[in-house]
Amino acid sequence: MSMDGRTCVITGSARGIGRGIAEHLGEEGANVVINYRSSEAAAREAVDAIESMGGRAIAAQADVSSDDEVEHMHDVCHETFGPADVLVNNAGITADKQFTEMTREEWDRVMDVNLGGMFNCTQAFYDDIWNAENGRLINISSVVGKQGNFGQANYATAKSGMFGFTRTIALEFAQGGSTANCVAPGFTRTDMVESVPDEVLDRIVSGIPLERLAEVEDIAAVVRFLASEESSYVTGEVIDVNGGMDL
Ligand code: NAI
Repeated sequence: MSMDGRTCVITGSARGIGRGIAEHLGEEGANVVINYRSSEAAAREAVDAIESMGGRAIAAQADVSSDDEVEHMHDVCHETFGPADVLVNNAGITADKQFTEMTREEWDRVMDVNLGGMFNCTQAFYDDIWNAENGRLINISSVVGKQGNFGQANYATAKSGMFGFTRTIALEFAQGGSTANCVAPGFTRTDMVESVPDEVLDRIVSGIPLERLAEVEDIAAVVRFLASEESSYVTGEVIDVNGGMDL
């Protein structure tokens, strides 16, 4: 499953799932754009990790909710590697509160990054992916987008919004031979779940047929498949990677 010479942009990839995806793609020979919002040092570490495996990577700053900054990241990608073949919309945030306590600002903030970021990045790289041979758009959603989750009305709404967007772009891209898919991870061991109390995590794990949280590698391996040429007949899908939570 070689990614040799394919240029992949992964948003929010200085840590967590994004970093795992970046390393998996870099290891397979991709040119990787590590996008970060403010953690430059972590982004440089991710670049070093890929270069130490013999891959090519650059760090590109952009808050995905800013169209100007995303446009700049697009220019940086073009100057270094040329047009992108693969865009992974991975950057995401939570701002959890039971709905009656949730402010409009918390709602808007989650929409701005999770959906607004997907809009800005997809718009900026749309022509690249359309024109690429085997262009790929991969959106990182969540099991929460399917099932909902107590205290996450904003996040669940944003994550399920990604499904309709992905299916629509899949139809548009199909005419050019490119694909668009969603990956919907279950609870994954990253900083995002670090703040979840142990007893809540235990309860979550007890409801997972495979009896464990996902590791970053579980998600990255599926994204690597979707990013490769081997997935060329898969489009408009939501691929669950959740240990059987729907069973
Ligand atoms: P994380 O919090 O460890 O990493 C998210 C990354 O996105 C960070 O590097 C952060 O700096 C970056 N980011 C946030 N806002 C940004 C912005 N405005 N512009 C650019 N970058 C920004 O989270 P994790 O766990 O790695 O999550 C990655 C994706 O996977 C997210 O979309 C998340 O919603 C999704 N996901 C995570 C699950 C989990 O259990 N960890 C489960 C299901 C989905």
